[in-house]
Amino acid sequence: MNLQAVMQLDEQYYMNTFGKRTPVCFEKGEGIYLYDTEGNRYTDFMAGIAVCGLGHCHPTLSEALHKQVDKLLHTSSLYYIENQAKLAEAIVKHSVADKVFFGNSGAEANEGAIKLAKIYFYKKNQPEKNEVITLTNSFHGRTLACVAATGQEKYQKPYKPLTPGFIHVPANDMEALLAAISDKTAAIMLELVQGESGVRPLKQAYVDGIVKLCKENNILLIVDEIQTGMGRTGKLFCYENYGIEPDIFTMAKALGGGVPIGAIGAKAEVAAGFEPGDHGTTFGGNPLATAAGLAVFKAYEEEKLVENSAIVGAYLKEKLSALQKAYPVMAEVRGLGLMIGIEFKEAVAKKVQGALFSAKYLVGAVGDKILRLVPALILTKEQADDFVLALETVLKEL
Ligand SMILES: Cc1ncc(COP(=O)(O)O)c(C=O)c1O
Repeated sequence: MNLQAVMQLDEQYYMNTFGKRTPVCFEKGEGIYLYDTEGNRYTDFMAGIAVCGLGHCHPTLSEALHKQVDKLLHTSSLYYIENQAKLAEAIVKHSVADKVFFGNSGAEANEGAIKLAKIYFYKKNQPEKNEVITLTNSFHGRTLACVAATGQEKYQKPYKPLTPGFIHVPANDMEALLAAISDKTAAIMLELVQGESGVRPLKQAYVDGIVKLCKENNILLIVDEIQTGMGRTGKLFCYENYGIEPDIFTMAKALGGGVPIGAIGAKAEVAAGFEPGDHGTTFGGNPLATAAGLAVFKAYEEEKLVENSAIVGAYLKEKLSALQKAYPVMAEVRGLGLMIGIEFKEAVAKKVQGALFSAKYLVGAVGDKILRLVPALILTKEQADDFVLALETVLKEL
């Protein structure tokens, strides 16, 4: 099918929640490259919105999936699942979690995390502790509770009345947080680097303050690692960058390398809040999705991809910062590892994104002023150099 035919079909039959999509349809991928239906090659700095950490069609992931597809896809969690148990073990061994629960997406993982925080206090005979504080400009997903958790009016407006029990405070403002906590606060939930709102890392002192506040006030800390996790920020989980230990954290995106999976990790005491019947899922952690997660961990280990994310991420950031000196339209280059935001002084982000697309590079734009780069963790320094060159060409013509 050519692009025009796909576009027509989509327009007729698909609900238009994504608006005017970029006019391209990919049919094949390899490493950090994607190939469209017309045979063009694109360099992918979006990685399926921070999902394809191994790049496209990584042999370790492809082989594991092929094997699993031929063996067994799904049984439900009514029965024991070897891959599920092994992936839970891998996450626990590499994180501060003692227990793991699998779902199918980021929003579902966050829903579960919020439920876990609530039930934890409910079972401690403190049902009044049922509020969750989140940050303005956060993004936690599209289900009703996650929309209520997300601190952005544009996602909430049509869905009011919202799920109750969420309070939003501005990021990096300790006074606002102090004013918001009460005997009702069950949890503070945050992204350590706000992704959807433009790659904004929280300040270390603020995060340290939150950890202290949580300890002193019997409040759980939930870190949303859906975008920042799985090596994206140069550590397996971003909380390592901040030297903190959340009580609960959520994963999705890169965990399955492109196969839908989400997960909740929690400390033992908190995880004990979920007892038989308290939560569940039909698909979550099925043999196929967890085979993908295991293959992702295998490839990370064999190819030292978390280290690569830190090294190539720092290299790319340095090169972009050098570019910023030559092109003052660039206001700031920020981020951690291979999660990088470029903020412009003027509303040119969409124009730059469009020009890069014409040059066959895929990047994200957040609003009018920010570009978001979340390439696969297999990115090389040479590929980073090529991107900086392409961006420079675009900026020159701007
Ligand atoms: C930080 C964060 N949380 C939650 C989500 C929602 O994940 P999903 O789209 O898999 O439901 C996203 C997705 O972009 C995210 O970036």
